[in-house]
Amino acid sequence: MSSPTLSGLAQDVRHGLHQTPKRLLSKYFYDEVGSRLFQQIMHLPEYYLTRCEHEILSTYQDEIGAWSRPPFDLVELGAGDGLKTKILLRRWLQLGHDFTYWPIDISADTLAGLGRSLGAELPQLRFQPLQNDYLQALAQLPGHRPKLVLFLGSNIGNFANPEALAFLRALYQVMHPGDGLLIGYDLKKHPATILAAYNDAQGVTKAFNLNILARLNRELLANFDLAAFDHYALYHPELGEARSYLVSQRSQQVALAALDLQIDLGAGEVIHTEVSRKYTSAEMDELVSQAGFVPLRTFLDARRQFADGLFQRGG
Ligand code: AVI
Repeated sequence: MSSPTLSGLAQDVRHGLHQTPKRLLSKYFYDEVGSRLFQQIMHLPEYYLTRCEHEILSTYQDEIGAWSRPPFDLVELGAGDGLKTKILLRRWLQLGHDFTYWPIDISADTLAGLGRSLGAELPQLRFQPLQNDYLQALAQLPGHRPKLVLFLGSNIGNFANPEALAFLRALYQVMHPGDGLLIGYDLKKHPATILAAYNDAQGVTKAFNLNILARLNRELLANFDLAAFDHYALYHPELGEARSYLVSQRSQQVALAALDLQIDLGAGEVIHTEVSRKYTSAEMDELVSQAGFVPLRTFLDARRQFADGLFQRGG
């Protein structure tokens, strides 16, 4: 008899908990509670990233719009609540640009919420949500209209370095010559400013990090005692990496019944949960160029904390 297939979550958790240090992938933060906590993070005083990108898109909405040649498809990878994108959508509708918006997200709940708010706020917008993995969804897009692909919010920072390049190369494969790519990324800056963004005073980031254990308790029938774990964030300025960990506060055993797995954690042992990489504009241009895109422009906020780079697929 064949054993039942394990879900992606189950396979990744099993693999990660056998590594040293133990690892859980940050993509599993975003269940319903995690997505809500992330919405709160975006409004925290310490989390400057969202405000900076909002400012950039407001300031340069016409420059970005002028670059896209109508009629075109505006595709967004990881659309979330669409708050920042609505700046562009609203303005481009006002200017009469001919485009269709394709928000892509892995979460059906997120897309349903976005669909409701777009329908209410921008009734004249043509949009078509796609619930799928980014690359699969992009490959599904009908026809060959010119595309502008948005990958905002410093989501690219959540890839470890070789994976960011692999992702950009895969993106190149599903895009066409001349298509545009707008990438939002966080800039290297004073390490204390970055560290504070991942270690806020109200403890929302701590709750966000701990929630992944609650998710494993629910979905993998685990028995993590959340009170026995702490949140620890660090920023390494030479690597440009903010990292988040969960720290076991005591020596303990945890069972994950759905995996038929029991793990031991020592006092002070860490589980690595997230990397948020920071770049200089030169580093980002270099990375994206290696994948076959041509840097066109870099838009910055007034305090030069965050950047949105506009690239064109070569070929
Ligand atoms: C979604 N992502 C870009 C966020 C970041 O800054 O890496 C997730 C996050 N993690 C902790 N705070 C916010």
